[in-house]
Formats: sequence, C-alpha cells, structure tokens
Amino acid sequence: MPGRLSLTFRTLCSLVAALSIASAQASSGPELFVRSADATSSACSQIEAALSSASELSLPGLGSFYQDIGHWATSSTQQAACSVQPGSTQDLGKIMQIIAATNSSFAVKGGGHTSNPGFSSTTGVHISMSRFSEVTYHAESSTVDVGSGLIWDDVYAALEPDNAMVVGGRVTGVGVAGFTLGGGYSWLTNQYGLTIDTVTGYELVLPNGTVASITDSSNPDLMFALRGGYNNFGVVTKFTLKAYPSANVWGGLITYTANTLDDVASASVNFSSKVTDPKAGIITTYNFVLGEIGVSQLLFYDAPQAPAGIFDEFLAISSFSKDVKSRTFSDLVRNIPSNATGGTRGIFNTVSLLEYTPELMEVIRNETQYWGQKLSLEDSGTFISYDVEPFQPTLFTHGSTSTASYPPTRSQGLLPLNLYWAYWDSSKDQVFYDAITQSAATIKAKAVELGQDVADAPVYGNYAIFSTPIDKIYGGNLERLRTIKQQYDPNNVMALAGGWKI
Ligand SMILES: Cc1cc2nc3c(=O)[nH]c(=O)nc-3n(C[C@H](O)[C@H](O)[C@H](O)COP(=O)(O)OP(=O)(O)OC[C@H]3O[C@@H](n4cnc5c(N)ncnc54)[C@H](O)[C@@H]3O)c2cc1C
Ligand SMILES: *[C@@H]1O[C@H](CO)[C@@H](O)[C@H](O)[C@H]1NC(C)=O
Ligand SMILES: *[C@@H]1O[C@H](CO)[C@@H](O)[C@H](O)[C@H]1NC(C)=O
Ligand SMILES: *[C@@H]1O[C@H](CO)[C@@H](O)[C@H](O)[C@H]1NC(C)=O
Ligand SMILES: *[C@@H]1O[C@H](CO)[C@@H](O)[C@H](O)[C@H]1NC(C)=O
Ligand SMILES: *[C@@H]1O[C@H](CO)[C@@H](O)[C@H](O)[C@H]1NC(C)=O
Repeated sequence: MPGRLSLTFRTLCSLVAALSIASAQASSGPELFVRSADATSSACSQIEAALSSASELSLPGLGSFYQDIGHWATSSTQQAACSVQPGSTQDLGKIMQIIAATNSSFAVKGGGHTSNPGFSSTTGVHISMSRFSEVTYHAESSTVDVGSGLIWDDVYAALEPDNAMVVGGRVTGVGVAGFTLGGGYSWLTNQYGLTIDTVTGYELVLPNGTVASITDSSNPDLMFALRGGYNNFGVVTKFTLKAYPSANVWGGLITYTANTLDDVASASVNFSSKVTDPKAGIITTYNFVLGEIGVSQLLFYDAPQAPAGIFDEFLAISSFSKDVKSRTFSDLVRNIPSNATGGTRGIFNTVSLLEYTPELMEVIRNETQYWGQKLSLEDSGTFISYDVEPFQPTLFTHGSTSTASYPPTRSQGLLPLNLYWAYWDSSKDQVFYDAITQSAATIKAKAVELGQDVADAPVYGNYAIFSTPIDKIYGGNLERLRTIKQQYDPNNVMALAGGWKI
C-alpha cells in the first residue's frame, strides 16, 4: 500500500530532522539568547525571567516544545523561537506586555486544529494555552467554566457525571478555543444555536496585559466582538458556556462503498429536506482515498434511542462498516476519526449553501471523484473529502447580529459545506490551493445556477481558506468590530499574531 509506505518513510524523515534540530539547539540554546539582538529571542529571555513557577518556557527541541507547537495538520506548524505554557492569567498578562514592548511576532494555540498556515503558529513566541484546562460545572446557574486549552473530548467526559452537556465539537480532538471564538457548528446546534450563541462570559487577557472578566451586562461590545472575533481582542483564558441536560445519545459512524452512493445521496437529501426534529443530525462525507470514492456517514440523535423513521433509510443501505448505537456523548465523539493518516498537510475551503438537492449532491460526488483522481497523480497520499452538513433552516435564530459578530446575517440559514483535503508533499501546496479554490468555486456556481441565493453569502471562518477576504466572514459587522478594536487594542498588538485579522 503506497499510502502506508510513504507514511513510514516520511515519519522517519521528520523524526531524523526533529532530532538534529533538537541536538543543534540543545548545544547552542543559551548562546542564542546572549548573542542575538533580534526582538524575538529577547522576548523569549524576558518572558523566561518574568514567569512564575506556574508557567514554563521551552526552547526548540526541549521540554514540551514539540507538543506546544504541534498541529492537527503539519502545514499549520512552524518552528518557533520558543514556546510558553502560561499557567496563570497574571503570567499571560506579563507575556502580552513583553510581546507588545518587544514588538515580537507570536502565536496563540488552543487545540491546534486550524487548517490555515500561520493562524496559530509563529517563528516568534508560541503561546500554548494547554495549562488552562479547568472544567467547572455550576448547577445553580446551569453554566460551565471551560479552560481555553482544552479539547472538546475532555470537556464532555468531565461533564458526564453531572449529566450535563455543552454545544461543542462533533469529532475527536478539536480545540474549544478556536472553535468557540469563530462560531461552532455542533450536534446540538439545531436545538440551541452555534457555540457562540451559548457563551455567557469570557475571561480575557487584554493586549495590554490587563485581565478582564467579560459578560453581556459588563461589556456588551467585547461580548459581541469575541462571539466570532478570534484573537483580535486579546487572549481568552476561560469560556463560560450554557449547560444543557444530557443523557446517553444515539449515533455513530457508517461507511459505504462506491456502489451504494446513489442511495446514500438520496437518503441524505431526504433527511435534509424532510426531517424537522431538532435533536437529529447527520454529516455525509464524500471521500477519496487510495483510488476509491466512498462515504463516511455520521448519524446523531440527542436521546438514548432515535425515534423510528428518521434514520431508517441510512440503516437499510448495505454498508462496509457500522458503529451506531446508544452511548455516551464522549464515546460518540471519541470514536469519530478525524484524520485519515497522521502527519499530513491539510487544506480547508467552504461553500455556504441553502439546501442539498439531488443535483447538488451529484456535483459534490463528481468533484470528489474528479479531484481525487487528478490529485492522486500529484501526490499518491492524497485524501479528498467534502462534508455535507445539513442543519435546520432555523439554526441562526438562537442568537442575534447585535450580540455576535458571526454570522453577519441571520435571516438565512446557511449550511457550511466543508472541503478538507490532505497530502504529504509540501512542494505541492500551490497545486492543492489552486485545485481546492477551483472546486469550491465550481460548487458555488452550480448552487447559484440551481437557484440558490448564495452568490454573496458570508462564509464560516473556521472552514474558510486563508485567502478569503475578511468581509466575507463578517460582512456588515466588520465596521463595529474595528471600532471596538480601536478601543481595546489601539496599538494593534494582536496583529503580531496570525489568523483572521479585522
Ligand atoms: C477534524 C476537525 C473537525 C472539525 N469539526 C468542526 C465542527 O464540527 N464544527 C465547527 O464549527 N468547526 C469544526 N472544525 C473547525 C474548527 O472549529 C477549527 O479548526 C478551530 O480553529 C479549532 O480550534 P482550535 O482551538 O483547535 O484551533 P487553533 O489552531 O488552536 O486556533 C485557531 C485560531 O484561534 C485562535 N485562538 C486559539 N486559542 C485562542 C485563545 N485562547 N484566545 C484567542 N485566540 C485564540 C488562534 O490564534 C487561531 O487564530 C473542525 C476542524 C477539524 C480539523
Ligand atoms: C512591529 O512589527 C511589525 C511587523 O512585525 C512592523 O510592521 C511594525 O512597524 C513594528 N512596529 C514597531 C514600533 O517597530
Ligand atoms: C428518498 O425519498 C424518495 C421519495 O419518498 C424515495 O423514493 C427514495 O427511495 C428515498 N431514498 C432512500 C435511499 O430511501
Ligand atoms: C490522528 O490524530 C491524533 C491527534 O489528533 C493522533 O493521536 C492519531 O495518531 C492520528 N491518527 C492517525 C491514524 O495517525
Ligand atoms: C466533473 O467535474 C469536473 C471538474 O469540475 C468537470 O470538468 C466535469 O465536467 C464534471 N463532470 C460532470 C459529469 O459533471
Ligand atoms: C488596558 O486596557 C484596558 C482597556 O482599554 C484599560 O481599561 C486599562 O486601563 C489598560 N491598562 C493599562 C495598564 O494600561
């Protein structure tokens, strides 16, 4: 199997490279600090001197450095000058002040799942939020305080003894922070809204190092800004989320092979056009790997058993594998694989749609086949996928454009189609960029041709490709975001970090 072979070879190569960087740095690390006049290494040494014992700084190759800078997609990782795990808001405040004073480039990483290069990575000071890992359930207010260094799997597992649940990620490994700062499309979105619609407070270290507790009553402007505004307003250390009662859920993963794809498409269209029960959800993923097209089908129902009828069509189609049952929420999420292979580069793109029709499903299937075959010639380890994610047309009615900066319009219930492609060869970045851009444009043009009013539809920042113009994400909310930014980050310190910049 060529995929496996190249995995082994490349894993070895990167291990060798990592070891040689590590040993080079280990011998020259301290000298680097003394000799370099560069802002970044000065920032690293100043930070190291300022930190309390709650926090830890690592030089390249040492301590938790590789864990700190690592990402789900290797193309989102950069070699930083140093990494730091702040362990208190006070230490993080000092770090922000040193970054501002030295004008050093930096990064903030939550779960490291961004698909866009440079969004949570840097060649400067890399801040990993992993020590912000509390999960505190408040029964009396039905809220949960969640540290910004967590992944959703851990949040769900911690809440299970309290039979509580939050509106978070759908598959294993995804970070709380970037997900929640950008939107958050969840299995519970039809019932309760996007994750940002369920945030009742933030603990935030402002760009000048001041620690602030933000709520709708204390600061509606910053609440609006943080509900969609990523890292433009400071570094979030804690989210307070609404909690909802939870029992076991029903669902899991079914895989189908090429010969049943007409039926799967038909079942998906039937589900998305007919099912109105807000507890039900699906993701139909067309994928192409090792020369074959297939579907990974996720089913979800927010109760221990799904009512008869809703998923019958999916269950009646003969499948390659089936893991669907009553289970805990965290078991469901943990068992949904989110990567085809470890160590690949990755690229996302998105198209905002209003509905899934048979014609559109056929276009998406053809795109999967076409680009899968074509790009396998460029890189034999190519993995191509298109996530069809139907929601109820009412999904945006749980929040408002005056209290959340994303989405900029809530009158239309937009469905974000997610294109995710993986590959190995970094010299093919441009090829994959061009192709995924073209594929999204093809699908959008077809949707418009089929009568969908999406020509100017906003797109979801957590699925959007890095070249997306910023007004496509925030639309008419951009102006208010910029006004708020003037007040809280007048020197534009946060521009020293990558990501969506307003
Ligand atoms: C396998 C997979 C499944 C996914 N499933 C879903 C899904 O079901 N629904 C959905 O809506 N999205 C989904 N996404 C997209 C997901 O929302 C984004 O990848 C998101 O960026 C993940 O957050 P993170 O903390 O892991 O990202 P990171 O890469 O750590 O950060 C992303 C951005 O947020 C900023 N940031 C991170 N932490 C902080 C902080 N504490 N303060 C300020 N800024 C910060 C970073 O600087 C960066 O710009 C999925 C992605 C993947 C790879
Ligand atoms: C800070 O760095 C940025 C680029 O990283 C640069 O554009 C800017 O001019 C610098 N500001 C100062 C005050 O040096
Ligand atoms: C979808 O619904 C149509 C119309 O009711 C039906 O003919 C078709 O068989 C359904 N698809 C599947 C896969 O059951
Ligand atoms: C997928 O990614 C996780 C980390 O998110 C990693 O632990 C796992 O080994 C990867 N799976 C494969 C098949 O490489
Ligand atoms: C399939 O997609 C490719 C690429 O977009 C396109 O050139 C081709 O015409 C499509 N085929 C069909 C049958 O639609
Ligand atoms: C930091 O910024 C906040 C918000 O603009 C402001 O209230 C606070 O006084 C500033 N702190 C310092 C030390 O300048």
